[in-house]
Amino acid sequence: MPAPPKVILITGASSGLGKAIGLRLAKAGHNVLGTSRQPQLGEGHGAFPLVAMDVTSDDSVNAAIAEVIQRTGRLDVVINNAGLGIQGPAEDITPELAARLLDTNLLGAHRVCRAALPQMRAQGGGLIINVTSVAGNFGLPYRSFYSASKAALERYTEALSTEVARFGIHALTVQPGEFNTNIAAARLKPDVISEANKPGYEKAMAILGGSMHYSRDPDELAQVVEKVINARRPKATYIVAQGVQRLSIVLKKVLPGRMFERMVRKHYE
Ligand SMILES: NC(=O)c1ccc[n+]([C@@H]2O[C@H](COP(=O)([O-])OP(=O)(O)OC[C@H]3O[C@@H](n4cnc5c(N)ncnc54)[C@H](OP(=O)(O)O)[C@@H]3O)[C@@H](O)[C@H]2O)c1
Repeated sequence: MPAPPKVILITGASSGLGKAIGLRLAKAGHNVLGTSRQPQLGEGHGAFPLVAMDVTSDDSVNAAIAEVIQRTGRLDVVINNAGLGIQGPAEDITPELAARLLDTNLLGAHRVCRAALPQMRAQGGGLIINVTSVAGNFGLPYRSFYSASKAALERYTEALSTEVARFGIHALTVQPGEFNTNIAAARLKPDVISEANKPGYEKAMAILGGSMHYSRDPDELAQVVEKVINARRPKATYIVAQGVQRLSIVLKKVLPGRMFERMVRKHYE
């Protein structure tokens, strides 16, 4: 028997993974609402409505969650997908730039959880899916704060899950590998790259740019999210990656720290 439709809110659903997840879940018959900072620009796809939300603003997040509840009367699933990339030598990333990234990737998800939890608790249950990244399992060169933000969101989710289980609420993470989206275009970058760091940075970025060509169809990730939503007892973490990305997670667990680090360095040299 098909699962009954759910009210599902997806942050950052104007493009990329969020849009693919929304399209798939709407097609499956769920009541999907997405968010965007500029909802009027993304309305073209027509499959589900977009509500205005900037995850870096408490007021904006609270207003969007209130609007969803007012429109639908409930909130069963929240998918914290809105996020940004960042690139640059760690030495050149100013604390202000790093704070912008963390404000979106970590505190953004936290703001949405805070706003959604009272409704889920009142309903006696709910599901929170935080989209992290395979990059949160290790420190990737020249993407220090991206790895840091996603690692932090992993640990945040783990802690939250232990607190909300008593209310019948599941919290979990989905870790994507590389998917074909707009993420590279919107990556934050420092204004100045120091001369000493330029050669290593440029080489690593050329390798990263090359690997993105082989990145995968966002609908593959959406299919996994659909399974998670239908699972009776969802796992704590879902890794949606193939090949070297998936292998790296295993190697990180079993290899001595410096040996793993050498392997990463060699890949980007
Ligand atoms: N693509 C990959 O290979 C990959 C790999 C691992 C993890 N991820 C993660 O997957 C998530 C989605 O990324 P994507 O690849 O689909 O990138 P994308 O196409 O650039 O989409 C990012 C989304 O985040 C939203 N967003 C950004 N800043 C926001 C803010 N301050 N408030 C509200 N929404 C904001 C954007 O919405 P608006 O601009 O319309 O507001 C956009 O819809 C991110 O968390 C990313 O870190 C992606």
